[in-house]
Amino acid sequence: MSLTDVRGNPVSHSSAEAVRRFERVVTLMNAFQADPIAEVDALLAEYPDFVMGHAFRAGALATTADKAFEGELVKTLAAAEALFDKANDRERLHIAAARAWLKGQFELATETWGRAALLFPRDVTAVQFAQFGDFFLGYSHMLRDRVARVLPHWDKAVPNYGFLLGMHAFGLEESGDYAQAEAVGREAFALDGRDAWAVHAVAHVMEMQGRAADGAEWLESTSASWAPNCMFAYHNWWHQALFSIDAGNAGRALKLFDEKVSAGGFGQAMELVDGSALLWRLSVLGYDVGKRWGDVADKWAPRAEDGYYAFNDLHAMMAFIGADRRPEQKALMAAAERAAEGLGTNAMMTREIGIPALKGFLAFGNGAHGEAIERLLPVRGKANRFGGSHAQRDILSWTLAEAALRTGDRALAEGLIAERLAQKPESRVNLAWDERVCRLPGRLAA
Ligand SMILES: [Fe+2]
Repeated sequence: MSLTDVRGNPVSHSSAEAVRRFERVVTLMNAFQADPIAEVDALLAEYPDFVMGHAFRAGALATTADKAFEGELVKTLAAAEALFDKANDRERLHIAAARAWLKGQFELATETWGRAALLFPRDVTAVQFAQFGDFFLGYSHMLRDRVARVLPHWDKAVPNYGFLLGMHAFGLEESGDYAQAEAVGREAFALDGRDAWAVHAVAHVMEMQGRAADGAEWLESTSASWAPNCMFAYHNWWHQALFSIDAGNAGRALKLFDEKVSAGGFGQAMELVDGSALLWRLSVLGYDVGKRWGDVADKWAPRAEDGYYAFNDLHAMMAFIGADRRPEQKALMAAAERAAEGLGTNAMMTREIGIPALKGFLAFGNGAHGEAIERLLPVRGKANRFGGSHAQRDILSWTLAEAALRTGDRALAEGLIAERLAQKPESRVNLAWDERVCRLPGRLAA
Protein backbone atom coordinates (compact mmCIF):
# COMPACT_ATOMS: atom_id res chain seq x y z
CA MET A 1 0.00 0.00 0.00
CA SER A 2 1.26 3.45 -0.72
CA LEU A 3 0.13 6.83 0.50
CA THR A 4 0.10 10.44 -0.58
CA ASP A 5 1.60 13.41 1.18
CA VAL A 6 -0.31 16.54 2.24
CA ARG A 7 -0.03 17.94 -1.29
CA GLY A 8 -1.29 14.75 -2.93
CA ASN A 9 2.07 13.46 -4.14
CA PRO A 10 2.45 9.67 -4.16
CA VAL A 11 4.79 8.20 -1.55
CA SER A 12 5.89 4.56 -1.80
CA HIS A 13 5.44 3.80 1.87
CA SER A 14 2.68 2.42 4.00
CA SER A 15 3.38 4.28 7.22
CA ALA A 16 1.27 7.40 7.63
CA GLU A 17 3.51 8.35 10.55
CA ALA A 18 6.61 8.26 8.33
CA VAL A 19 4.89 10.38 5.68
CA ARG A 20 3.81 12.87 8.33
CA ARG A 21 7.34 13.09 9.71
CA PHE A 22 8.79 13.56 6.26
CA GLU A 23 6.55 16.57 5.80
CA ARG A 24 8.51 18.27 8.55
CA VAL A 25 11.73 17.58 6.60
CA VAL A 26 10.24 19.15 3.47
CA THR A 27 9.10 22.22 5.36
CA LEU A 28 12.42 22.71 7.14
CA MET A 29 14.12 22.67 3.75
CA ASN A 30 11.57 25.03 2.20
CA ALA A 31 12.07 27.42 5.11
CA PHE A 32 15.88 26.98 5.23
CA GLN A 33 15.48 26.06 8.87
CA ALA A 34 17.94 23.71 10.56
CA ASP A 35 18.17 20.89 10.17
CA PRO A 36 16.42 18.86 7.47
CA ILE A 37 19.30 16.40 7.17
CA ALA A 38 19.26 15.59 10.90
CA GLU A 39 15.49 15.26 10.70
CA VAL A 40 15.53 12.94 7.71
CA ASP A 41 18.31 10.87 9.28
CA ALA A 42 16.15 10.30 12.35
CA LEU A 43 13.26 9.32 10.08
CA LEU A 44 15.43 6.92 8.05
CA ALA A 45 16.83 5.33 11.19
CA GLU A 46 13.29 4.28 12.01
CA TYR A 47 12.04 3.69 8.47
CA PRO A 48 15.08 2.68 6.40
CA ASP A 49 12.89 1.80 3.40
CA PHE A 50 11.36 5.28 3.16
CA VAL A 51 12.57 5.89 -0.37
CA MET A 52 11.69 9.56 -0.60
CA GLY A 53 13.78 10.19 2.52
CA HIS A 54 16.88 8.86 0.79
CA ALA A 55 16.00 10.69 -2.43
CA PHE A 56 15.53 13.92 -0.51
CA ARG A 57 18.82 13.47 1.33
CA ALA A 58 20.62 12.87 -1.96
CA GLY A 59 19.10 15.98 -3.53
CA ALA A 60 19.89 18.14 -0.54
CA LEU A 61 23.52 16.98 -0.53
CA ALA A 62 23.92 17.37 -4.29
CA THR A 63 22.59 20.90 -4.29
CA THR A 64 25.16 22.13 -1.82
CA ALA A 65 27.40 22.27 -4.93
CA ASP A 66 30.24 21.36 -2.61
CA LYS A 67 32.54 18.41 -3.25
CA ALA A 68 33.02 18.08 0.50
CA PHE A 69 29.60 16.39 0.63
CA GLU A 70 30.22 14.03 -2.27
CA GLY A 71 31.12 11.04 -0.08
CA GLU A 72 27.81 11.34 1.75
CA LEU A 73 26.00 11.74 -1.56
CA VAL A 74 27.53 8.51 -2.86
CA LYS A 75 26.36 6.62 0.23
CA THR A 76 22.90 8.12 0.14
CA LEU A 77 22.43 7.37 -3.53
CA ALA A 78 23.50 3.77 -2.97
CA ALA A 79 20.84 3.44 -0.28
CA ALA A 80 18.23 5.07 -2.52
CA GLU A 81 19.07 2.98 -5.57
CA ALA A 82 18.96 -0.22 -3.52
CA LEU A 83 15.26 0.59 -3.07
CA PHE A 84 14.69 1.42 -6.73
CA ASP A 85 12.26 -1.47 -7.32
CA LYS A 86 10.10 -0.23 -4.48
CA ALA A 87 10.26 3.42 -5.58
CA ASN A 88 7.44 5.08 -7.46
CA ASP A 89 7.96 7.20 -10.59
CA ARG A 90 8.32 10.45 -8.67
CA GLU A 91 10.93 9.04 -6.33
CA ARG A 92 12.83 7.49 -9.23
CA LEU A 93 13.07 10.89 -10.88
CA HIS A 94 14.49 12.37 -7.69
CA ILE A 95 17.04 9.57 -7.47
CA ALA A 96 17.97 9.92 -11.14
CA ALA A 97 18.42 13.67 -10.71
CA ALA A 98 20.82 13.25 -7.81
CA ARG A 99 22.71 10.56 -9.74
CA ALA A 100 23.06 12.92 -12.70
CA TRP A 101 24.41 15.61 -10.38
CA LEU A 102 26.94 13.19 -8.95
CA LYS A 103 28.07 12.41 -12.51
CA GLY A 104 28.65 16.13 -13.02
CA GLN A 105 25.67 16.54 -15.34
CA PHE A 106 24.16 19.56 -13.64
CA GLU A 107 21.82 20.43 -16.54
CA LEU A 108 20.42 16.89 -16.73
CA ALA A 109 19.99 16.80 -12.95
CA THR A 110 18.11 20.08 -12.97
CA GLU A 111 15.88 19.03 -15.85
CA THR A 112 15.16 15.74 -14.08
CA TRP A 113 13.96 17.51 -10.94
CA GLY A 114 12.13 19.80 -13.36
CA ARG A 115 10.47 16.77 -14.96
CA ALA A 116 9.36 15.56 -11.54
CA ALA A 117 7.83 18.99 -10.97
CA LEU A 118 6.02 18.87 -14.32
CA LEU A 119 4.54 15.44 -13.61
CA PHE A 120 3.86 16.21 -9.95
CA PRO A 121 3.39 19.98 -9.88
CA ARG A 122 2.77 20.02 -6.16
CA ASP A 123 6.08 18.30 -5.45
CA VAL A 124 7.54 21.34 -3.74
CA THR A 125 10.85 19.57 -3.13
CA ALA A 126 11.28 18.90 -6.85
CA VAL A 127 10.59 22.57 -7.57
CA GLN A 128 13.04 23.67 -4.88
CA PHE A 129 15.87 21.37 -5.98
CA ALA A 130 15.31 22.37 -9.61
CA GLN A 131 15.53 26.00 -8.54
CA PHE A 132 18.83 25.31 -6.79
CA GLY A 133 20.03 23.70 -10.01
CA ASP A 134 18.91 26.67 -12.09
CA PHE A 135 20.74 28.91 -9.66
CA PHE A 136 24.02 27.00 -9.94
CA LEU A 137 23.60 27.01 -13.72
CA GLY A 138 22.87 30.74 -13.82
CA TYR A 139 19.56 30.17 -15.64
CA SER A 140 17.93 33.45 -14.65
CA HIS A 141 14.67 32.92 -16.51
CA MET A 142 14.29 29.32 -15.47
CA LEU A 143 14.46 30.44 -11.85
CA ARG A 144 11.20 32.22 -12.64
CA ASP A 145 9.59 30.00 -15.24
CA ARG A 146 10.11 26.64 -13.60
CA VAL A 147 8.04 27.95 -10.69
CA ALA A 148 5.52 29.74 -12.92
CA ARG A 149 4.82 26.42 -14.66
CA VAL A 150 3.49 24.79 -11.54
CA LEU A 151 1.69 27.78 -10.00
CA PRO A 152 -1.65 26.98 -11.70
CA HIS A 153 -1.72 23.79 -9.63
CA TRP A 154 -1.40 25.67 -6.35
CA ASP A 155 -3.40 28.01 -4.22
CA LYS A 156 -3.28 29.26 -0.67
CA ALA A 157 -4.93 26.09 0.60
CA VAL A 158 -1.97 23.92 -0.51
CA PRO A 159 0.53 23.55 2.33
CA ASN A 160 3.78 25.50 1.76
CA TYR A 161 2.24 27.75 -0.88
CA GLY A 162 4.09 30.69 0.64
CA PHE A 163 7.44 28.99 0.14
CA LEU A 164 6.58 28.38 -3.51
CA LEU A 165 5.86 32.10 -3.83
CA GLY A 166 9.26 32.82 -2.25
CA MET A 167 10.89 30.73 -4.98
CA HIS A 168 8.89 32.54 -7.63
CA ALA A 169 9.90 35.90 -6.15
CA PHE A 170 13.58 35.06 -6.49
CA GLY A 171 13.10 33.96 -10.10
CA LEU A 172 11.20 37.14 -10.89
CA GLU A 173 14.01 39.19 -9.41
CA GLU A 174 16.74 37.38 -11.34
CA SER A 175 14.64 37.92 -14.49
CA GLY A 176 14.53 41.64 -13.82
CA ASP A 177 10.81 41.75 -12.94
CA TYR A 178 11.57 43.80 -9.86
CA ALA A 179 8.17 45.22 -8.98
CA GLN A 180 6.46 41.84 -9.20
CA ALA A 181 9.35 40.16 -7.39
CA GLU A 182 9.04 42.54 -4.48
CA ALA A 183 5.26 42.15 -4.28
CA VAL A 184 5.39 38.35 -4.45
CA GLY A 185 8.30 38.18 -2.01
CA ARG A 186 6.47 40.33 0.50
CA GLU A 187 3.34 38.22 0.07
CA ALA A 188 5.36 35.04 0.69
CA PHE A 189 6.93 36.52 3.79
CA ALA A 190 3.52 37.56 5.09
CA LEU A 191 2.32 33.96 4.67
CA ASP A 192 5.28 32.51 6.58
CA GLY A 193 7.72 34.72 8.45
CA ARG A 194 10.35 31.97 8.49
CA ASP A 195 10.75 32.28 4.72
CA ALA A 196 14.37 33.42 4.48
CA TRP A 197 14.33 32.79 0.71
CA ALA A 198 11.43 35.21 0.17
CA VAL A 199 13.18 37.77 2.36
CA HIS A 200 16.29 37.18 0.28
CA ALA A 201 14.37 37.76 -2.97
CA VAL A 202 13.15 41.14 -1.75
CA ALA A 203 16.67 42.01 -0.57
CA HIS A 204 17.92 41.19 -4.08
CA VAL A 205 15.37 43.59 -5.58
CA MET A 206 16.66 46.32 -3.30
CA GLU A 207 20.26 45.43 -4.12
CA MET A 208 19.62 45.60 -7.86
CA GLN A 209 17.71 48.86 -7.58
CA GLY A 210 20.35 50.53 -5.41
CA ARG A 211 18.00 50.86 -2.45
CA ALA A 212 20.66 50.25 0.20
CA ALA A 213 18.76 51.99 3.01
CA ASP A 214 15.53 50.13 2.19
CA GLY A 215 17.43 46.85 1.99
CA ALA A 216 19.16 47.34 5.32
CA GLU A 217 15.88 48.21 6.96
CA TRP A 218 14.08 45.28 5.34
CA LEU A 219 16.59 42.69 6.53
CA GLU A 220 16.89 44.16 10.00
CA SER A 221 13.18 44.61 10.59
CA THR A 222 12.27 41.11 9.42
CA SER A 223 15.19 39.23 10.96
CA ALA A 224 13.47 38.31 14.21
CA SER A 225 11.20 35.98 12.29
CA TRP A 226 13.56 34.44 9.70
CA ALA A 227 16.99 34.48 11.33
CA PRO A 228 16.58 32.15 14.32
CA ASN A 229 17.58 28.63 13.36
CA CYS A 230 18.10 29.68 9.73
CA MET A 231 20.66 27.73 7.68
CA PHE A 232 20.80 30.56 5.17
CA ALA A 233 21.14 33.50 7.54
CA TYR A 234 24.81 34.00 6.65
CA HIS A 235 23.79 34.84 3.09
CA ASN A 236 21.08 37.32 4.02
CA TRP A 237 23.63 38.98 6.32
CA TRP A 238 26.06 39.02 3.40
CA HIS A 239 23.44 41.03 1.54
CA GLN A 240 23.21 43.29 4.56
CA ALA A 241 26.98 43.80 4.34
CA LEU A 242 26.63 44.78 0.66
CA PHE A 243 24.04 47.37 1.66
CA SER A 244 26.51 48.66 4.28
CA ILE A 245 29.27 49.01 1.69
CA ASP A 246 26.94 50.84 -0.69
CA ALA A 247 26.03 53.17 2.17
CA GLY A 248 29.73 53.90 2.70
CA ASN A 249 30.04 51.93 5.93
CA ALA A 250 32.83 49.41 5.44
CA GLY A 251 33.26 49.06 9.20
CA ARG A 252 29.72 47.80 9.53
CA ALA A 253 30.31 45.34 6.67
CA LEU A 254 33.35 43.92 8.47
CA LYS A 255 31.38 43.66 11.71
CA LEU A 256 28.73 41.70 9.81
CA PHE A 257 31.48 39.46 8.43
CA ASP A 258 32.78 38.81 11.93
CA GLU A 259 29.46 38.33 13.66
CA LYS A 260 27.11 36.97 11.04
CA VAL A 261 28.59 35.87 7.72
CA SER A 262 31.27 33.76 9.43
CA ALA A 263 28.99 32.61 12.24
CA GLY A 264 28.51 29.12 10.79
CA GLY A 265 32.26 28.53 10.77
CA PHE A 266 32.51 28.41 6.96
CA GLY A 267 31.75 24.69 6.93
CA GLN A 268 30.33 24.69 3.42
CA ALA A 269 31.36 26.16 0.11
CA MET A 270 28.40 28.52 -0.17
CA GLU A 271 29.34 30.20 3.10
CA LEU A 272 32.92 30.50 1.95
CA VAL A 273 31.77 32.04 -1.32
CA ASP A 274 30.12 34.82 0.66
CA GLY A 275 33.13 35.27 2.90
CA SER A 276 35.45 35.64 -0.08
CA ALA A 277 33.06 37.84 -2.02
CA LEU A 278 32.69 40.28 0.84
CA LEU A 279 36.40 40.54 1.63
CA TRP A 280 37.27 40.87 -2.06
CA ARG A 281 34.90 43.80 -2.56
CA LEU A 282 36.38 45.57 0.44
CA SER A 283 39.97 44.78 -0.51
CA VAL A 284 39.45 46.06 -4.05
CA LEU A 285 38.27 49.34 -2.56
CA GLY A 286 41.47 49.49 -0.52
CA TYR A 287 40.19 48.49 2.91
CA ASP A 288 42.46 46.45 5.14
CA VAL A 289 40.52 43.36 6.17
CA GLY A 290 43.24 42.16 8.53
CA LYS A 291 43.70 38.47 9.21
CA ARG A 292 40.31 37.56 7.82
CA TRP A 293 41.76 36.57 4.43
CA GLY A 294 43.99 34.03 6.13
CA ASP A 295 41.06 32.52 8.00
CA VAL A 296 38.98 32.17 4.83
CA ALA A 297 41.95 30.85 2.82
CA ASP A 298 42.54 28.17 5.47
CA LYS A 299 38.97 26.97 5.02
CA TRP A 300 39.23 26.97 1.24
CA ALA A 301 42.61 25.20 1.21
CA PRO A 302 41.26 21.62 1.37
CA ARG A 303 39.06 22.48 -1.63
CA ALA A 304 41.86 24.02 -3.73
CA GLU A 305 42.07 21.02 -6.03
CA ASP A 306 38.38 20.14 -6.18
CA GLY A 307 37.85 21.32 -9.75
CA TYR A 308 34.20 20.75 -8.91
CA TYR A 309 32.42 24.01 -9.59
CA ALA A 310 34.05 26.96 -11.32
CA PHE A 311 32.06 29.52 -9.36
CA ASN A 312 33.46 28.12 -6.11
CA ASP A 313 36.95 28.02 -7.60
CA LEU A 314 36.93 31.72 -8.38
CA HIS A 315 35.94 32.53 -4.82
CA ALA A 316 38.61 30.20 -3.46
CA MET A 317 41.12 32.00 -5.65
CA MET A 318 40.07 35.35 -4.20
CA ALA A 319 41.05 34.07 -0.76
CA PHE A 320 44.35 32.63 -1.99
CA ILE A 321 45.13 35.99 -3.59
CA GLY A 322 43.99 37.96 -0.54
CA ALA A 323 46.10 35.82 1.79
CA ASP A 324 48.99 35.65 -0.72
CA ARG A 325 48.96 31.84 -0.78
CA ARG A 326 51.02 31.21 -3.90
CA PRO A 327 51.13 27.38 -3.68
CA GLU A 328 47.33 27.19 -3.38
CA GLN A 329 46.93 29.64 -6.25
CA LYS A 330 49.03 27.36 -8.45
CA ALA A 331 47.31 24.19 -7.28
CA LEU A 332 43.88 25.67 -7.92
CA MET A 333 44.84 26.88 -11.37
CA ALA A 334 46.23 23.45 -12.29
CA ALA A 335 43.08 21.75 -10.98
CA ALA A 336 40.91 24.12 -13.03
CA GLU A 337 42.91 23.33 -16.14
CA ARG A 338 42.35 19.62 -15.52
CA ALA A 339 38.64 20.22 -14.89
CA ALA A 340 38.33 22.13 -18.16
CA GLU A 341 39.50 19.01 -20.02
CA GLY A 342 36.95 16.80 -18.32
CA LEU A 343 33.33 15.96 -18.99
CA GLY A 344 30.19 17.40 -17.52
CA THR A 345 28.81 20.82 -16.86
CA ASN A 346 31.71 22.13 -14.85
CA ALA A 347 34.15 21.48 -17.69
CA MET A 348 32.19 23.96 -19.82
CA MET A 349 31.90 26.44 -16.94
CA THR A 350 35.61 26.21 -16.20
CA ARG A 351 36.64 26.52 -19.84
CA GLU A 352 34.38 29.40 -20.72
CA ILE A 353 34.30 31.43 -17.53
CA GLY A 354 36.37 29.88 -14.77
CA ILE A 355 39.84 29.96 -16.28
CA PRO A 356 39.66 33.45 -17.81
CA ALA A 357 38.17 34.75 -14.55
CA LEU A 358 40.81 33.01 -12.42
CA LYS A 359 43.56 34.47 -14.58
CA GLY A 360 41.94 37.89 -14.49
CA PHE A 361 41.67 37.92 -10.71
CA LEU A 362 45.23 36.65 -10.36
CA ALA A 363 46.41 39.44 -12.65
CA PHE A 364 44.49 41.97 -10.57
CA GLY A 365 46.07 40.55 -7.41
CA ASN A 366 49.50 40.89 -8.96
CA GLY A 367 48.87 44.50 -9.93
CA ALA A 368 48.68 43.68 -13.65
CA HIS A 369 45.49 45.66 -14.11
CA GLY A 370 45.70 45.85 -17.89
CA GLU A 371 45.88 42.08 -18.10
CA ALA A 372 43.02 41.76 -15.62
CA ILE A 373 40.87 43.86 -17.95
CA GLU A 374 41.87 41.80 -20.98
CA ARG A 375 40.90 38.59 -19.22
CA LEU A 376 37.73 39.72 -17.48
CA LEU A 377 36.06 41.98 -19.99
CA PRO A 378 35.25 39.24 -22.53
CA VAL A 379 33.67 36.95 -19.92
CA ARG A 380 31.65 39.52 -18.01
CA GLY A 381 28.67 39.41 -20.37
CA LYS A 382 28.38 35.62 -20.33
CA ALA A 383 29.37 34.99 -16.74
CA ASN A 384 25.88 33.67 -15.96
CA ARG A 385 27.20 30.42 -17.47
CA PHE A 386 29.04 29.64 -14.26
CA GLY A 387 26.03 30.32 -12.10
CA GLY A 388 25.23 32.50 -9.15
CA SER A 389 23.04 35.58 -8.96
CA HIS A 390 23.39 38.94 -10.66
CA ALA A 391 24.44 40.41 -7.32
CA GLN A 392 27.17 37.80 -6.88
CA ARG A 393 28.49 38.14 -10.42
CA ASP A 394 28.73 41.89 -9.96
CA ILE A 395 32.12 41.14 -8.43
CA LEU A 396 33.46 40.91 -11.99
CA SER A 397 32.26 44.42 -12.86
CA TRP A 398 33.42 45.72 -9.48
CA THR A 399 36.93 44.40 -10.11
CA LEU A 400 36.93 45.69 -13.68
CA ALA A 401 35.91 49.20 -12.60
CA GLU A 402 38.79 49.37 -10.14
CA ALA A 403 41.23 47.91 -12.68
CA ALA A 404 40.17 50.47 -15.28
CA LEU A 405 40.73 53.30 -12.80
CA ARG A 406 44.13 51.98 -11.77
CA THR A 407 45.36 51.61 -15.35
CA GLY A 408 44.00 55.04 -16.21
CA ASP A 409 41.72 53.68 -18.94
CA ARG A 410 39.37 56.59 -18.69
CA ALA A 411 36.97 55.50 -21.42
CA LEU A 412 36.43 52.09 -19.86
CA ALA A 413 36.27 53.45 -16.33
CA GLU A 414 33.74 56.09 -17.35
CA GLY A 415 31.63 53.50 -19.13
CA LEU A 416 31.66 50.97 -16.33
CA ILE A 417 30.91 53.57 -13.70
CA ALA A 418 28.15 55.14 -15.77
CA GLU A 419 26.54 51.68 -15.99
CA ARG A 420 26.67 51.37 -12.23
CA LEU A 421 25.37 54.86 -11.57
CA ALA A 422 22.43 54.23 -13.90
CA GLN A 423 21.36 51.41 -11.59
CA LYS A 424 22.57 52.83 -8.29
CA PRO A 425 22.92 56.59 -8.41
CA GLU A 426 23.20 56.92 -4.63
CA SER A 427 25.78 54.21 -4.02
CA ARG A 428 28.70 55.70 -2.13
CA VAL A 429 30.99 53.22 -3.86
CA ASN A 430 29.85 54.35 -7.29
CA LEU A 431 30.05 58.02 -6.35
CA ALA A 432 33.59 57.60 -5.03
CA TRP A 433 34.59 55.82 -8.24
CA ASP A 434 32.97 58.62 -10.24
CA GLU A 435 35.04 61.20 -8.40
CA ARG A 436 38.20 59.28 -9.18
CA VAL A 437 37.35 58.93 -12.85
CA CYS A 438 36.92 62.69 -13.09
CA ARG A 439 40.50 63.12 -11.91
CA LEU A 440 41.92 60.86 -14.62
CA PRO A 441 43.57 62.52 -17.61
CA GLY A 442 41.01 63.26 -20.33
CA ARG A 443 40.21 61.19 -23.38
CA LEU A 444 42.35 61.48 -26.44
CA ALA A 445 41.04 64.10 -28.86
CA ALA A 446 38.86 62.59 -31.56
FE1 LIG B 1 21.70 36.42 -2.74
